Amino acid sequence: MKKTLTICCLFFCLAGIAQSAKKNIAIIPEPVSVKQGEGVFKLPANLRIEAPSDPELVQVMATLKKHFSGTAGSSYTVSQQLPGADIRLVLNKTEDKSIGKEGYQLSVTTKNVVIKANEPAGLFYGVQTLLQLFPKEIESATKVAGVKWEAPVVEITDVPRFGWRGLMFDVVRHFFTKAEVKQFIDDMVRYKYNLLHLHLTDDEGWRLEIKGLPKLTEVGAWNVKKVGYFGTFSKPTPDEPKDFGGFYTQEDIKELVQYAKDRFVNILPEIDVPGHSLAAVVSYPELSCTPEANTYQVRSGEEIMDWSHGNPPTALVDNTLCPANEKVYEFLDKVMTQVAQLFPFEYIHVGGDECPKNYWAKSDAVKELMKREGLTHMEEVQSYFEKRLEKIVSSKGKKFLGWDEILEGGLAPGAAVMSWQGMKGGIKAAQMKHEVVMSPTTYAYLDYMQGDPIVEPRIYASLRLNKTYEFEPVPAEVDPKYIKGGQANLWTEQVYNMRHQQYMTWPRAFAISEILWSPKEKKNWEHFFGKVEQHFQRYDVADKKYAPSVYDPSFESSITSDGKLKIELGKEVASLDIHYSFDNSFPDNHYPVYSSALIAPKDAVMLKVVTYKDGKQKGRIIAMPLSELRARAEKKK
Ligand code: ACM
Repeated sequence: MKKTLTICCLFFCLAGIAQSAKKNIAIIPEPVSVKQGEGVFKLPANLRIEAPSDPELVQVMATLKKHFSGTAGSSYTVSQQLPGADIRLVLNKTEDKSIGKEGYQLSVTTKNVVIKANEPAGLFYGVQTLLQLFPKEIESATKVAGVKWEAPVVEITDVPRFGWRGLMFDVVRHFFTKAEVKQFIDDMVRYKYNLLHLHLTDDEGWRLEIKGLPKLTEVGAWNVKKVGYFGTFSKPTPDEPKDFGGFYTQEDIKELVQYAKDRFVNILPEIDVPGHSLAAVVSYPELSCTPEANTYQVRSGEEIMDWSHGNPPTALVDNTLCPANEKVYEFLDKVMTQVAQLFPFEYIHVGGDECPKNYWAKSDAVKELMKREGLTHMEEVQSYFEKRLEKIVSSKGKKFLGWDEILEGGLAPGAAVMSWQGMKGGIKAAQMKHEVVMSPTTYAYLDYMQGDPIVEPRIYASLRLNKTYEFEPVPAEVDPKYIKGGQANLWTEQVYNMRHQQYMTWPRAFAISEILWSPKEKKNWEHFFGKVEQHFQRYDVADKKYAPSVYDPSFESSITSDGKLKIELGKEVASLDIHYSFDNSFPDNHYPVYSSALIAPKDAVMLKVVTYKDGKQKGRIIAMPLSELRARAEKKK
């Protein structure tokens, strides 16, 4: 009996060990195929790496060195031929068509690690996956002792679903330095993103040096520093210094482009015209249809649009380039010539979004243009502008890409469309046989709040992690060949620094990376979220910020027929318990667990909630005034 018990214990222990080893595989984005074996690869104290000598592999080698030598403390030898090497990086001599340009095969045995790929990019991604197989401490920026540096035995084959896996970073609303953009790139490549869309111009700044147009950066790159709720700031007074902002010199851009290229990232530049152009207009007022443009200033977050009628908004100051002014096309030619030379990527993004038309409607020059060109409405005027711009962009050898408003009034031939107002613009463009990148607000807007506005820095819409994970870039009604991929967009009106940038980007960019890289069939929220929790721990070690909002409940309120306040709490993570109080005290796991709709007690003023999982606090304590819930319920009525 005792013997049987011992054998049983041994069996369950071993099963437990196998189980826990399995648990350690938490790769984001999920690879195409993961076959776990028995045992582990132990990182040796003297690490020997065999790798081809190839300038494109510099960052692959630097990544290995940083983590295995810098963090794990192994000594480190690299050579092109190293019999019995612990890690072998192999560039296939004969192309393996199944893994394309970015795929890889990663084999971890108890003896060694072999990563094979057709191209250096594949080896780079294979190394990212390898790092995720090691304990979380491998993410530390400094050396860590006392960790068993082991990776589970596994065979992984991987290849991305889409070639366009992007993140958009708005460096206008708040300027981010060259060093900060590099940090953004460092973070994105860990999750196999390969495209950085830099939003370089807007009403609040012009961030790119253009030779021969010095005022764009002498004047257009600077405004007044304000904090609070962007969009509601007071109009700057003459005594407030316009010393907030900055720009990238052409040398900075060359450095960033190279930095990105070394990490297999393309940079897509966006010059947002004809709307969102106040910084350009203030720099060169002759580009405007509006005479008083010479009195304007670069926006510092004060209200300049009336959005009450939706998109397009009504402008309170004319932030547009004048489509009826030849000087505008000369200006754009000059700008696009230099943009095309600076950015090797094949596309230039020309914006085109949210262009108000009310000042155009008042302009005699625009009226004349309409008569001359037979244009009957303002969308056609924008389309006229876009078609001329498309010719300029293609004359520089680049492809023309714009937000989905460029569809209105007729799409320029050859134009590619970035669909942001939901999926419908992308569907329409793909049905017209144009290339499409999907980045709908519905799933991919990283500036939106991740939880309730009572907790999150307030902005006009919400997008929780589980909704982000529902993103499917290829709608049923289009030919998939027109969908190049997708991206998530981080607008920075409310993002004042890099820590908050990280908070807004992660974990939703984990979700988007998986949507864009992994096979559709492998999508699984429960599995994904389990991995997210492990990556949160990796971020803790790396001292990177992320939003814990996924652990916070959502609030729905309504008024019952007898006038009481009914409250329903929702959660993204099924295994969480929500504890609550109505007596103003701080709930913990000894407080009641939410199980069904609550009726607010008669004289209560505050609902406080907190979530727990496995006895550990996960969410933040949220204090929700019942007056707020009542007001929301009244508004819905
Ligand atoms: C956009 O969000 N205005 C493209």
